[in-house]
Amino acid sequence: MLNTNLKHLNPATLSLLDQLRPWKVNQCRKSFPFLLLLSAPVFATSTDSRQFVEMPPEARATLRAEMLENQLALHLIISALAENRFAEAGDIVEKEMGISTMGKHRKLPQNARPGRFMPNEMHAIGRGSHVAASDFAKLANEAGPNDLPKLLAALQNVTGACIACHRGYRTR
Ligand code: HEC
Repeated sequence: MLNTNLKHLNPATLSLLDQLRPWKVNQCRKSFPFLLLLSAPVFATSTDSRQFVEMPPEARATLRAEMLENQLALHLIISALAENRFAEAGDIVEKEMGISTMGKHRKLPQNARPGRFMPNEMHAIGRGSHVAASDFAKLANEAGPNDLPKLLAALQNVTGACIACHRGYRTR
Protein backbone atom coordinates (compact mmCIF):
# COMPACT_ATOMS: atom_id res chain seq x y z
CA MET A 1 0.00 0.00 0.00
CA LEU A 2 1.12 3.51 -0.70
CA ASN A 3 1.69 4.49 2.90
CA THR A 4 3.90 1.52 3.59
CA ASN A 5 5.86 2.19 0.41
CA LEU A 6 6.53 5.75 1.34
CA LYS A 7 8.29 4.76 4.53
CA HIS A 8 11.12 3.29 2.48
CA LEU A 9 11.82 6.43 0.50
CA ASN A 10 14.94 8.29 1.48
CA PRO A 11 14.49 11.65 3.24
CA ALA A 12 15.42 13.61 0.10
CA THR A 13 12.70 11.95 -1.99
CA LEU A 14 10.18 12.25 0.83
CA SER A 15 10.77 15.95 1.14
CA LEU A 16 10.35 16.32 -2.63
CA LEU A 17 7.06 14.48 -2.41
CA ASP A 18 6.00 16.67 0.51
CA GLN A 19 6.66 19.82 -1.43
CA LEU A 20 4.29 18.87 -4.21
CA ARG A 21 0.97 20.60 -4.05
CA PRO A 22 -1.15 17.84 -5.65
CA TRP A 23 0.32 15.24 -3.35
CA LYS A 24 -2.74 14.97 -1.14
CA VAL A 25 -2.45 11.37 -0.16
CA ASN A 26 -3.86 11.84 3.31
CA GLN A 27 -7.02 13.54 2.11
CA CYS A 28 -7.49 10.89 -0.59
CA ARG A 29 -7.02 8.10 1.90
CA LYS A 30 -9.78 9.45 4.12
CA SER A 31 -12.28 9.70 1.31
CA PHE A 32 -11.42 6.71 -0.82
CA PRO A 33 -9.52 4.15 1.22
CA PHE A 34 -10.61 1.22 -0.90
CA LEU A 35 -9.88 2.85 -4.23
CA LEU A 36 -6.48 3.93 -3.05
CA LEU A 37 -5.70 0.45 -1.87
CA LEU A 38 -6.35 -0.87 -5.37
CA SER A 39 -4.64 1.76 -7.43
CA ALA A 40 -2.53 3.98 -5.22
CA PRO A 41 -0.02 5.26 -7.78
CA VAL A 42 -2.53 6.03 -10.51
CA PHE A 43 -5.02 7.72 -8.21
CA ALA A 44 -5.55 11.30 -9.32
CA THR A 45 -7.45 14.18 -7.81
CA SER A 46 -10.61 15.00 -9.74
CA THR A 47 -9.22 18.27 -11.12
CA ASP A 48 -5.82 18.29 -12.75
CA SER A 49 -3.74 20.37 -10.37
CA ARG A 50 -0.40 19.60 -12.02
CA GLN A 51 1.62 22.66 -12.91
CA PHE A 52 1.78 23.33 -16.64
CA VAL A 53 5.33 23.64 -17.93
CA GLU A 54 5.56 25.14 -21.37
CA MET A 55 8.24 23.67 -23.64
CA PRO A 56 8.90 23.91 -27.38
CA PRO A 57 7.80 20.78 -29.27
CA GLU A 58 11.46 19.82 -29.78
CA ALA A 59 12.13 19.75 -26.01
CA ARG A 60 8.94 17.78 -25.44
CA ALA A 61 10.03 15.26 -28.05
CA THR A 62 13.41 14.83 -26.30
CA LEU A 63 11.66 14.42 -22.96
CA ARG A 64 9.20 11.91 -24.35
CA ALA A 65 11.96 9.79 -25.91
CA GLU A 66 13.83 9.84 -22.61
CA MET A 67 10.68 8.83 -20.73
CA LEU A 68 10.05 5.85 -22.98
CA GLU A 69 13.66 4.79 -22.36
CA ASN A 70 13.08 5.18 -18.60
CA GLN A 71 10.02 2.99 -18.77
CA LEU A 72 11.84 0.30 -20.73
CA ALA A 73 14.81 0.47 -18.36
CA LEU A 74 12.51 -0.01 -15.38
CA HIS A 75 11.03 -3.09 -17.03
CA LEU A 76 14.48 -4.55 -17.72
CA ILE A 77 15.60 -3.79 -14.16
CA ILE A 78 12.63 -5.64 -12.67
CA SER A 79 13.29 -8.58 -14.99
CA ALA A 80 16.93 -8.70 -13.92
CA LEU A 81 15.96 -8.49 -10.24
CA ALA A 82 13.43 -11.28 -10.65
CA GLU A 83 16.22 -13.52 -11.95
CA ASN A 84 18.71 -12.51 -9.26
CA ARG A 85 20.91 -10.78 -11.80
CA PHE A 86 21.58 -7.91 -9.42
CA ALA A 87 24.78 -6.53 -10.92
CA GLU A 88 23.12 -6.43 -14.32
CA ALA A 89 20.17 -4.52 -12.85
CA GLY A 90 22.68 -2.05 -11.40
CA ASP A 91 24.42 -1.63 -14.75
CA ILE A 92 21.15 -0.93 -16.56
CA VAL A 93 20.14 1.67 -13.99
CA GLU A 94 23.47 3.48 -14.09
CA LYS A 95 23.68 3.42 -17.89
CA GLU A 96 20.11 4.56 -18.48
CA MET A 97 19.30 6.81 -15.51
CA GLY A 98 22.36 7.28 -13.32
CA ILE A 99 24.35 10.42 -12.54
CA SER A 100 26.56 9.61 -15.53
CA THR A 101 23.59 10.33 -17.85
CA MET A 102 23.11 13.87 -16.54
CA GLY A 103 23.78 16.53 -19.15
CA LYS A 104 23.41 14.10 -22.03
CA HIS A 105 21.28 16.63 -23.96
CA ARG A 106 24.00 19.27 -23.74
CA LYS A 107 24.89 18.92 -27.41
CA LEU A 108 21.32 19.36 -28.63
CA PRO A 109 20.04 22.74 -29.82
CA GLN A 110 18.76 24.91 -26.94
CA ASN A 111 15.10 24.42 -27.87
CA ALA A 112 15.45 20.62 -27.72
CA ARG A 113 16.82 20.53 -24.16
CA PRO A 114 13.95 19.94 -21.73
CA GLY A 115 15.91 20.79 -18.57
CA ARG A 116 16.14 24.46 -19.58
CA PHE A 117 12.38 24.81 -19.44
CA MET A 118 11.81 23.10 -16.12
CA PRO A 119 11.02 25.12 -13.01
CA ASN A 120 13.68 24.66 -10.30
CA GLU A 121 11.63 22.26 -8.23
CA MET A 122 10.93 20.03 -11.23
CA HIS A 123 14.57 20.07 -12.22
CA ALA A 124 15.49 19.10 -8.66
CA ILE A 125 13.22 16.07 -8.85
CA GLY A 126 14.93 15.13 -12.12
CA ARG A 127 18.38 15.43 -10.54
CA GLY A 128 17.13 13.50 -7.50
CA SER A 129 16.04 10.66 -9.77
CA HIS A 130 19.56 10.37 -11.21
CA VAL A 131 21.07 10.34 -7.73
CA ALA A 132 18.58 7.68 -6.57
CA ALA A 133 19.42 5.64 -9.68
CA SER A 134 23.16 5.76 -8.97
CA ASP A 135 22.56 4.87 -5.31
CA PHE A 136 20.59 1.85 -6.48
CA ALA A 137 23.29 0.88 -8.98
CA LYS A 138 25.99 0.96 -6.31
CA LEU A 139 23.92 -1.16 -3.95
CA ALA A 140 23.05 -3.63 -6.72
CA ASN A 141 26.68 -4.06 -7.67
CA GLU A 142 27.59 -4.95 -4.09
CA ALA A 143 24.46 -7.00 -3.35
CA GLY A 144 24.49 -10.55 -2.01
CA PRO A 145 21.91 -13.29 -2.70
CA ASN A 146 19.61 -12.19 0.17
CA ASP A 147 19.57 -8.52 -0.66
CA LEU A 148 16.52 -8.37 -2.91
CA PRO A 149 14.31 -6.57 -0.32
CA LYS A 150 17.03 -3.96 0.17
CA LEU A 151 17.30 -3.46 -3.60
CA LEU A 152 13.55 -3.14 -4.03
CA ALA A 153 13.47 -0.52 -1.28
CA ALA A 154 16.24 1.41 -3.04
CA LEU A 155 14.44 1.11 -6.38
CA GLN A 156 11.46 2.84 -4.78
CA ASN A 157 13.53 5.96 -4.49
CA VAL A 158 13.79 5.87 -8.29
CA THR A 159 10.10 5.18 -8.92
CA GLY A 160 9.23 7.71 -6.20
CA ALA A 161 10.87 10.39 -8.34
CA CYS A 162 8.84 9.31 -11.41
CA ILE A 163 5.69 9.69 -9.36
CA ALA A 164 6.71 12.97 -7.74
CA CYS A 165 7.37 14.59 -11.11
CA HIS A 166 4.36 13.13 -12.91
CA ARG A 167 1.98 14.18 -10.16
CA GLY A 168 3.43 17.66 -10.04
CA TYR A 169 3.88 18.66 -13.68
CA ARG A 170 2.50 18.37 -17.17
CA THR A 171 3.79 19.65 -20.48
CA ARG A 172 0.52 19.68 -22.40
C1 HEC B 1 11.61 15.61 -13.68
C2 HEC B 1 10.34 15.11 -14.09
C3 HEC B 1 10.14 13.69 -14.50
C4 HEC B 1 10.69 12.55 -13.96
C5 HEC B 1 11.67 12.41 -12.80
C6 HEC B 1 10.14 11.45 -14.71
N1 HEC B 1 9.28 11.90 -15.66
FE1 HEC B 1 8.23 10.76 -16.98
N2 HEC B 1 7.36 12.44 -17.76
C7 HEC B 1 7.60 13.73 -17.32
C8 HEC B 1 6.77 14.66 -18.08
C9 HEC B 1 6.75 16.18 -17.89
C10 HEC B 1 6.02 13.88 -18.99
C11 HEC B 1 4.97 14.38 -19.98
C12 HEC B 1 3.67 14.51 -19.22
C13 HEC B 1 2.63 15.30 -19.95
O1 HEC B 1 2.85 16.47 -20.25
O2 HEC B 1 1.56 14.72 -20.22
C14 HEC B 1 6.41 12.49 -18.76
C15 HEC B 1 5.89 11.41 -19.44
C16 HEC B 1 6.26 10.08 -19.23
C17 HEC B 1 5.77 8.96 -20.00
C18 HEC B 1 4.79 9.03 -21.16
C19 HEC B 1 5.58 9.14 -22.47
C20 HEC B 1 4.66 9.28 -23.68
O3 HEC B 1 4.71 8.43 -24.56
O4 HEC B 1 3.92 10.26 -23.75
C21 HEC B 1 6.34 7.84 -19.47
C22 HEC B 1 6.15 6.40 -19.93
C23 HEC B 1 7.21 8.25 -18.40
N3 HEC B 1 7.14 9.62 -18.27
C24 HEC B 1 7.97 7.38 -17.62
C25 HEC B 1 8.79 7.79 -16.56
C26 HEC B 1 9.48 6.88 -15.66
C27 HEC B 1 9.40 5.37 -15.71
C28 HEC B 1 10.16 7.67 -14.78
C29 HEC B 1 11.04 7.25 -13.65
C30 HEC B 1 12.05 6.27 -13.85
C31 HEC B 1 9.90 9.05 -15.13
N4 HEC B 1 9.06 9.08 -16.21
C32 HEC B 1 10.44 10.12 -14.45
C33 HEC B 1 8.48 14.11 -16.35
C34 HEC B 1 9.24 13.27 -15.57
